[in-house]
Amino acid sequence: MIEQIFTQARSGKIYTDAEMTQADIRALYEIAKWAPSESNTCPMRLVFAHSHEAKARLRPGILPGNQPKFDSAPVTAIVAFDTEFDQHLATLAPHLAESSPFADMPAAKRSEMIQRSAHLQAGMFIAAARAQGWTAGPMAGIDRDAIDQAFFAESSWRCSFVIMLGVADESEFYPRGARLSFEQACQIL
Ligand SMILES: Cc1cc2nc3c(=O)[nH]c(=O)nc-3n(C[C@H](O)[C@H](O)[C@H](O)COP(=O)(O)O)c2cc1C
Repeated sequence: MIEQIFTQARSGKIYTDAEMTQADIRALYEIAKWAPSESNTCPMRLVFAHSHEAKARLRPGILPGNQPKFDSAPVTAIVAFDTEFDQHLATLAPHLAESSPFADMPAAKRSEMIQRSAHLQAGMFIAAARAQGWTAGPMAGIDRDAIDQAFFAESSWRCSFVIMLGVADESEFYPRGARLSFEQACQIL
């Protein structure tokens, strides 16, 4: 399992024709939803472009160099964050709902907090996908404003990046990049 989620797992580029069903997508969220977040605020939101119609709506928001990858993937998830995440506090963190510490937070700090937790949730979403045998392909080469316009014009959700999902064509993987050594990336004090 360590190999499947970490040491042998790759970021997807081009995908095979293997289907991903709505049941597969739901099963994936049921695992990923247990990721930690600040005060259990759970600010990550996901929009799964699964139908032809949804993919056509999303495609103009994918930068040209990434479009062939996007076209090959059976599903692409828009990873978003909810700027009004507090509306769920009564469910998620009832002890904070009465006098929310987030209500009067300076806008920049609030935005930073929301995105920190949403991105942490997204990382664990990738791990969950790998655990279930899928290849995840994160992509920030997108037009976030265009995606917000196309999907979130009437909503408090905002796009951050996208993650392609499916079964990758392994012959299309880029050469595996190096990683920093413990000495380069870590300190034990
Ligand atoms: C936030 C983020 C944005 C990325 N954006 C792109 C992208 O726009 N296009 C692309 O082909 N790969 C993109 N990648 C994939 C990275 O290039 C890949 O994860 C990295 O090179 C490690 O590859 P590996 O997981 O196969 O070892 C992105 C990855 C992350 C985490």
